[in-house]
Amino acid sequence: MKIVTVIGARPQIIKAAALSRAIKNNFPDKLKEKIIHTGQHYDENMSKIFFDELGIPKPDYNLNVGSASHGAQTACMIEGIEEILIKESPDYLILYGDTNSTLAGAVAASKIHVPIAHIEAGLRSFNKSMPEEINRIMCDHASALLFSPTGTGYSNSKKEGFKPDNSKPFTNDNPGIFHCGDVMFDNSLYFKEIALNKSNVLDNNELETGKFILGTVHRDNNTDQPQRLNAIFRSILKISEENDIEFVLPLHPRTSKLLSKNLDQELFRAISNNHKIKLIPPVSFLDMIALESNCKMVITDSGGVQKESYFFRKPCVILRSETEWKEITEVGAAIIADAEEERILKAYSRFSNSRNIDFPTIFGDGKAAEFICTTLIENI
Ligand code: UD1
Ligand code: UDP
Repeated sequence: MKIVTVIGARPQIIKAAALSRAIKNNFPDKLKEKIIHTGQHYDENMSKIFFDELGIPKPDYNLNVGSASHGAQTACMIEGIEEILIKESPDYLILYGDTNSTLAGAVAASKIHVPIAHIEAGLRSFNKSMPEEINRIMCDHASALLFSPTGTGYSNSKKEGFKPDNSKPFTNDNPGIFHCGDVMFDNSLYFKEIALNKSNVLDNNELETGKFILGTVHRDNNTDQPQRLNAIFRSILKISEENDIEFVLPLHPRTSKLLSKNLDQELFRAISNNHKIKLIPPVSFLDMIALESNCKMVITDSGGVQKESYFFRKPCVILRSETEWKEITEVGAAIIADAEEERILKAYSRFSNSRNIDFPTIFGDGKAAEFICTTLIENI
């Protein structure tokens, strides 16, 4: 059986590692994987670093699309993916998440009748102003196999009309839906020990376990709206100064490019000159795991980092107005603070003062990738 996998943005490269590892370890004779990298992310520390570190096979194809407007970028990907699918004629196209690379794969494959398996299906923010919400809805509705990482994802699919009876054969007119756990959780379990042994990120940045907050900011509505970006960084400065606590912020290139432009000059200077707020380039996945598992708390607008914060049992302040990972807020391990100073400060102090946060099992048993491989093989 042959599958073609599309990756392009950082989190997809990381997620793909789980499936490639499961294939290599458990199904080497049954599943052959070809990888297309769209080139949506291309900086060394947004792409290549993960292949080296996570043992992901080198992509068979790189479309090198680079950055552009949504339409231009997606169109360029569709053209390239279509050509490869015609040549490779796979049994399934594997798509991850909700980026423009996901949408391009869904459009290309569905037009030429290549069945799609969507990993991270059913997640919804119910906010269609997010480009990702449109991408994930369209991908789900073009797919033959939908793999939901959480109960909420699975139940969203049912509410949207996907039938849970799973009567074969599965096609995009009669898709199969599965609640199978999260491949990112598989990765966190697998790489935790390796990260703690190998990573020097704490020493390199003079950070002490439990005494720093890990932050990431990259969503377009935060980076591109000065009012929101200012509120987030004002809150970070205030928390650091009032509590004498350090921050480490591995900045997405999008954010680095916009920080000096969109932050008020005085705030930009105060942040840049504050040695307790460490703005660093994007880090490797192993370094990220080391930061997540040693920090006091996470502040983020990232989907993946919200979850990893939970995997490593750290409270999380979410810099968005909603989350697809509803369960983590429902159990009290994460708080939605949006980009509002008062709410961010309140969430920080709530977590600083609470000792007993519960992290029940939400994301499966660490074997989501094996389940997905088995389901693919059973449904050629
Ligand atoms: C994309 C995804 C988002 C995901 C994020 C993961 C879409 C619509 N968005 O957002 O869902 O959370 O990836 O990180 O697909 N850039 C570089 N170097 C790179 C990559 C990007 O400098 O290697 C800069 C460019 O200025 C580019 C900007 O970042 O214009 C945005 O990149 P893009 O891939 O369009 O969107 P992301 O914000 O990364
Ligand atoms: N990540 C990383 N280095 C960084 C920031 C994030 O390896 O400097 C990893 C993080 O651990 C998670 C994934 O990237 O696995 C999340 O990707 P991102 O925040 O870019 O996108 P999202 O999950 O919001 O789509």
